[in-house]
Amino acid sequence: MGGQKAGKFIVFEGIDGSGKSTQIQMAQKHLVQAGYDVYATFEPTDGPVGRLIRQMLSGKVPTDQRTIASLFAADRTDHLMNETCGIKKIVDQGKLVLCDRYYFSSYAYHSQYIDMDWVIHSNALNAQILRPDLTIFIDVDPDVCFQRIKDNRSSFDMYEKMDVMKKVRDNYFKAFDKLKDTEQVVIINGNRPVQELADDISDKINNVLENK
Ligand code: ADP
Ligand code: TYD
Repeated sequence: MGGQKAGKFIVFEGIDGSGKSTQIQMAQKHLVQAGYDVYATFEPTDGPVGRLIRQMLSGKVPTDQRTIASLFAADRTDHLMNETCGIKKIVDQGKLVLCDRYYFSSYAYHSQYIDMDWVIHSNALNAQILRPDLTIFIDVDPDVCFQRIKDNRSSFDMYEKMDVMKKVRDNYFKAFDKLKDTEQVVIINGNRPVQELADDISDKINNVLENK
């Protein structure tokens, strides 16, 4: 795979339980072995705004959906720019950043309640600061994801319901179509064994690293 080149920013997207964290861990391991300097991260963050968001998602703090959408955009700006581990600086240093969710999550989840263009607009600054070199969408049937979550969790966030997951998946596709001229997106069939998916994802990442 060769040595380190310019920094890259690769985002993993998908509905809840689609296998994003599993695939990020596998890609990270593989890329580190190949000699890349990799930083893996996620949204919502574990910073102050991200912590507030998680309380809201659990339903503990009743909140208007516009407020939640705005907080996600603010959490993202902090994720990009904060002094200790802002990912803009990390990419500029030449590292490879893998991120579990970014602004397409906002477009897909919040457009259930708010006009998608409003959500895109509220993330314009984030897009200007750092646009992903590639967004990898792991596409898994909502009923499969729902079952995986049910098998693994004792409590559920507000979006972890079957009808919501179906809507969110549709919204992802609407967002990909809307932004097809500005964003690099690949859709991976996630209804397959973990290793098969990992191999496919590895090929896509290699294309970015080799600037294909
Ligand atoms: P996400 O980060 O998208 O929420 P996870 O990586 O946590 O998803 O995966 C959710 C659950 O599904 C976990 O229990 C994980 O082990 C399992 N899982 C992940 N990928 C697959 C796959 N390709 N096939 C079957 N189960 C999977
Ligand atoms: P996450 O912890 O990544 O959940 P999972 O591991 O199950 O995929 O994200 C928590 C929830 O936050 C998830 O339901 C998606 C939602 N979300 C938004 O609504 N907007 C956003 O901008 C982001 C990044 C996440």
